[in-house]
Amino acid sequence: MTTKENDCTIPESINYKDHWNAAYTKNTTEKLGWYEESSKETIELIKETKVEKDARILNVGAGSSLLIDELVQEGYLQLIANDLSEKALNDIKERLKEDASKVDFIVDDLVNPTALNDVDKVDVWNDRAVLHFFLKEEEQQAYFNLLKKLVKVGGYVIIAVFATDGAEKCCGLNLQRYNTEMLQEKLGANFSLEKSFNHTFVNPYGGERPYVYSLFKRRK
Ligand SMILES: C[S@@+](CC[C@H](N)C(=O)[O-])C[C@H]1O[C@@H](n2cnc3c(N)ncnc32)[C@H](O)[C@@H]1O
Repeated sequence: MTTKENDCTIPESINYKDHWNAAYTKNTTEKLGWYEESSKETIELIKETKVEKDARILNVGAGSSLLIDELVQEGYLQLIANDLSEKALNDIKERLKEDASKVDFIVDDLVNPTALNDVDKVDVWNDRAVLHFFLKEEEQQAYFNLLKKLVKVGGYVIIAVFATDGAEKCCGLNLQRYNTEMLQEKLGANFSLEKSFNHTFVNPYGGERPYVYSLFKRRK
């Protein structure tokens, strides 16, 4: 069965963990509305940071994205993949086979963290298509509190989110769309903008999804 991005079913009251596990169970990775064959834009920004191959890179809401496989292939040694969905992370583990041992997998909720609170500080925080799902002020606050707790001074933040002219929904869920200024405001003056660009992602069904990519450096 071909499943479209907007076929993600929304029950009356949403248990987000179940919602995302169901999305990854009903669809193969290549059929997900957010699937990208290559994480070129993210890899370019990681290279732009010039962090060493042993830098700690935390991919929040990694899903079953091929980014982790690409980073393993690039020789990065301290990768951490987080997601609310255990199924999504298991899909990465299955693909990586023995290389899965090179990645630390953490099933946890970014806006109500438990295990993530105990993670050692990281050199890079990377988010593609996750922050925009947090609609409530307190969820956004929790997300940025965790980010500020975990990113080292001198470390980097890469956020790719639906742009202000982007789609209003993904996987059946409403989105908070952003521009770089809104992200800067959330991060505060201790983070300086290094680079930002717009990118129109074309999903596996031909839909155009405008994103904004931003790279920030933590100064203090
Ligand atoms: C649109 S997908 C993007 C996945 C991946 N970053 C990519 O680019 O393919 C959003 C991801 O965020 C995860 N997610 C949603 N809410 C989350 C939360 N509160 N904590 C951690 N992950 C979450 C979902 O399970 C899903 O894998």
